[in-house]
Parts: sequence; structure tokens; C-alpha cells
Amino acid sequence: MGELSVNHLLGIKYLKESDIQLIFETADHFKEVINRSIKKVPSLRDITIANIFFENSTRTKLSFELAEKRLSADVLNFSASQSSVKKGETLIDTVNNILSMKVDMVVMRHPNPGAGIFLSKHVKASIVNAGDGAHEHPTQALLDSYSIREKLGDVAGKNVVIVGDILHSRVALSNIFALKLQGANVKVCGPKTLIPKHIESLGVQVEMNLRKALEWCDVANMLRIQNERLDISYFPTTREYTQQFGVNKNLLDSLGKEIVIMHPGPINRGVEITSDVADSKQSIILNQVENGVAIRMAVIYLLASKIKQ
Ligand code: CP
Repeated sequence: MGELSVNHLLGIKYLKESDIQLIFETADHFKEVINRSIKKVPSLRDITIANIFFENSTRTKLSFELAEKRLSADVLNFSASQSSVKKGETLIDTVNNILSMKVDMVVMRHPNPGAGIFLSKHVKASIVNAGDGAHEHPTQALLDSYSIREKLGDVAGKNVVIVGDILHSRVALSNIFALKLQGANVKVCGPKTLIPKHIESLGVQVEMNLRKALEWCDVANMLRIQNERLDISYFPTTREYTQQFGVNKNLLDSLGKEIVIMHPGPINRGVEITSDVADSKQSIILNQVENGVAIRMAVIYLLASKIKQ
């Protein structure tokens, strides 16, 4: 088996296409493992991993924890809201204290863009970015591409539209990097106020009309409106947003072809996507979650192999 070109997973921006293919091939093996009756392998019995979350999470936190346990690693879970961070302890002090307990790897979610990059320069551990503000969410993009590959056979040459709040979305940025690296064609669609200026410089096209975007694509990745990151009003009302950029079953059925519907979660049902679309046969939302465990096992396994060298 090959090895990753990086010692940390800080963003898709720092990966090569060969890293992505290695992660997918490794995830294929782990997907087979987690579908066995005994879903565990002893690979990382000598590795200790701390999951430190400074922001809320359901999927990412549980998925990392399960991936680590399936690999037989020892796992520490740290939630900032119940820690001495509340007493003013800094990020570096917090992490160095955790590392003194002989921790090898840190999986971190943090509201500040670049928090993982900063940490990787100041502490002696392998860092995995589990989402840093509006910057990157690399394991989400990896599991998204892996799910497209599983459903459509390949990512190269596929037309993928990312719909919604592109401006504040770490999922959008990581997906754009990952999809372009693998040779997919990418469009973004959403209110003009939520599309970053100069996004075309990343090799994507902007399509303001949702119907046209859906008619073009093989895959639509529907993003959540992240109300917690909206400091001002970017569109008149949620109802108007849904009318222009929400996908419902009538719209989907009127396309005359079957497209794949994705969503990173959590879903705002009835806003960016209706329940009958989210729960339809075209939706692979729960497959994405299932694949998240295999992808995170692959990432942790490959990074841990570099620590052991
Ligand atoms: N997709 C995702 O990151 O979900 P959580 O915020 O629940 O982890």
C-alpha cells in the first residue's frame, strides 16, 4: 500500500489526486470490514486519538469516534463547552495538556478558519481538520466524492452542482477542491449575495437559475443555510429562498432525467430540500453518512502509519 503525501489532513487543498485515490482504495477495504459481523480490526491498538470539538456536531463527531473504535485505537473525547477553555485556557495550552497524556493524533473542529493549520505548526501530533469555520471540511468532501464514485462509478467527467450558501460553506470549498482534482465539472448555484466574488478562479462556473443547473448536472449537492454564520440578511425571506433555490419533488420529476441528490446534513427540511426529496430513491444522504465511517477509518489509518515510521 502507498502512503499519503501529507502528515496532517488540514484541507483538500493540500492533497494530491493520488492521495484521494489512496484514501478511496483504503476506504473500500474498511467498508468491507464494517459490513462484517465483527466490525473491528486491531490495526491501531497502539494509537491514542483525541477528538476535540469547539463547535456542535452530530455526524462528524460520532463518525470519527466510531472509525477510531473500529480500528481499535484508544479514544478521548473533549467538548470545549465542558472544559477549562471556559476558564480562559488557550488552544495550544489545551492541546499540549492533552498531548502530555501521550496522545498521537488530534481530530479538531473549531469555529476559526485555519485553526488546524495553526495547531499543526505548534504541537507534536498529527492533526485532522473536522471543520474549521467557513474554511474546509476535508473528510466531508472525501466522503461526498466517495459516495459519487460508489453511485456513478467515477467522479471524473461528472457534472456536479453545489447549491446554496457557498460563501459560508466549508463543505462547498472542500468539495470544489476535491471534485476539480478528480476531473469533475463543477457549478455553484445560489443567491448572488451567497456566492463569493471570483469563485470562477477555482475553476467552477456560476449558474443563478436552479432549473438550468439541475438540467445540466448528474449530482446536486444541496447545502444548508447556515443561520449561525449569517451576520446580516443575505436574502429577503426563507420562503423566497426556498422558492428560488429549494428542490422539491415536482421540480425533480419535471427534469426528465434522474439526478443524484446529496446533502452533508444537518438538513433544514422544507427549506433547501423537501422531505419527499430527502427521503426519495434519488437521495444518497444516508449513504454519505455510512461512507463517512469508512473514509475516516482510511484517513486515520493512513496518517497513523506515518506516525509509526
Ligand atoms: N456534515 C456535518 O459536518 O455534520 P455535523 O455538523 O453534524 O458534524
